[in-house]
Amino acid sequence: MGERGGHYASAFHPPQSLAGGPGSKPPGRRRRAGAGARGAPPAAALLLAALLAAAWLLWRWGGGGTGRAGAGAAPQMACEDRPARGAVYLNYEVIFGLCNQMISHLNAVTLALAAGLDGVILPPAWSRPHFNHSVDEDVWNKNTPIATLLDIAEMRRRLAPAGIDVLESTEDDALVMRHTCEQAAQSFSPLESIPNAVWRVRSLVDSIRMRRPANQRCIHFQRYMLFWAHDLTSGANLPYLAAQSLAFNSTVEALAEEVAAAIGGAFNGAHMRIELDMGLKAEKAMPQYITHMRRLGFNASAPLYAASGLLTYNDTGAFRRMEEALKSAGVCSRVLSKEFLVGPERLAGLHSEQLALVDLLVLTRSARFVGHKASTFSYFARDLRALRGGGDLTTAGLLEGGKTWESGTVIAPHD
Ligand SMILES: *[C@@H]1O[C@H](CO)[C@@H](O)[C@H](O)[C@H]1NC(C)=O
Ligand SMILES: *[C@@H]1O[C@H](CO)[C@@H](O)[C@H](O)[C@H]1NC(C)=O
Ligand SMILES: *[C@@H]1O[C@H](CO)[C@@H](O)[C@H](O)[C@H]1NC(C)=O
Ligand SMILES: *[C@@H]1O[C@H](CO)[C@@H](O)[C@H](O)[C@H]1NC(C)=O
Repeated sequence: MGERGGHYASAFHPPQSLAGGPGSKPPGRRRRAGAGARGAPPAAALLLAALLAAAWLLWRWGGGGTGRAGAGAAPQMACEDRPARGAVYLNYEVIFGLCNQMISHLNAVTLALAAGLDGVILPPAWSRPHFNHSVDEDVWNKNTPIATLLDIAEMRRRLAPAGIDVLESTEDDALVMRHTCEQAAQSFSPLESIPNAVWRVRSLVDSIRMRRPANQRCIHFQRYMLFWAHDLTSGANLPYLAAQSLAFNSTVEALAEEVAAAIGGAFNGAHMRIELDMGLKAEKAMPQYITHMRRLGFNASAPLYAASGLLTYNDTGAFRRMEEALKSAGVCSRVLSKEFLVGPERLAGLHSEQLALVDLLVLTRSARFVGHKASTFSYFARDLRALRGGGDLTTAGLLEGGKTWESGTVIAPHD
């Protein structure tokens, strides 16, 4: 159902300085759901190609940026007197759960790639005590170290060939930029197309440079980069490339490998998004999960790995009820979770979103996958699974639900 989307929309109020002004596009502008990842309209694709070429030419000529990424990457200047341009760094924030955060990073890197920016400044992560809270409680720790989720050094390595530096907002360099660079901010326009976003960034940055032609200072550019910031289906192959740059904390990666190995063979996977904070009714969702599992060929010969936050608040009763329903429907031999596959000491000390990341990475290895469309975790799991070679969309399915973000948040390769 749309509750979650509605909740997110109403619970989140961008600050005045960043809220969409008269120029921002209404969400209705986004392309239709179901159009899928493939086949951006030719006009949009052409516009994007033209913008990319323009961004590349205009931004890379001029002697390189002043930041780390700019040095040495630019071609020789035609005119020796032309001032070196200042590097442009994208600063943003994330909100809510693991995959909302991941899709925000993905939006940021996509925009950096598309607009020829010089760097992204990774914000702190959010985490929560557990999943048993009402949707309106603010239980989040908004200052969780980002390195607990992302492998920053590896992301830096992956993005260096594209001329994009990756900084942590707490690092000295990022703090210096915040205080010494030209400050710029832009309004938030939900599910904006990538070409439109590139156009707006370019216009703003160019106007700053034109106002101060001699000024070569870097630009610290702030934008709301929420999980529904862009219609990723309008970005040709860039969102897919950006998704490939996401590298996860290696301790958590290793733990996911350990959990998957402990299953001891092929398994099907599901994101059982029936915790209290999701606001869905388990009684209503369970029959829908079962229908989808049957449709995809889940049967009693294989175990089911269930990603769920139920056990983060010790609700083993709800977990067992779910297991009984799935087993008696004949869609699995048993239901597994990380808490039953590795010792408690292996999970101790990990925060909520690291635990969710273990689940996400285990699910990328599932033979078949079912999730819930109202959850960004579900469709990110579906797409990351395909990206990491775990199985294409014919072996994955999402329950109907939600009504907004999923149509613009598809991460799939384009021809
Ligand atoms: C990855 O997460 C683990 C567990 O929380 C933590 O100990 C480690 O420091 C993190 N890695 C980095 C590079 O920060
Ligand atoms: C159950 O699923 C497996 C694949 O996981 C398949 O090989 C097998 O034929 C199925 N069994 C039945 C009875 O459909
Ligand atoms: C769950 O149980 C563990 C072990 O008994 C306890 O440490 C933890 O605080 C419990 N969590 C919640 C959210 O009640
Ligand atoms: C979850 O929270 C609700 C109140 O919001 C409470 O009634 C319930 O007992 C909690 N469940 C667990 C397992 O902690």
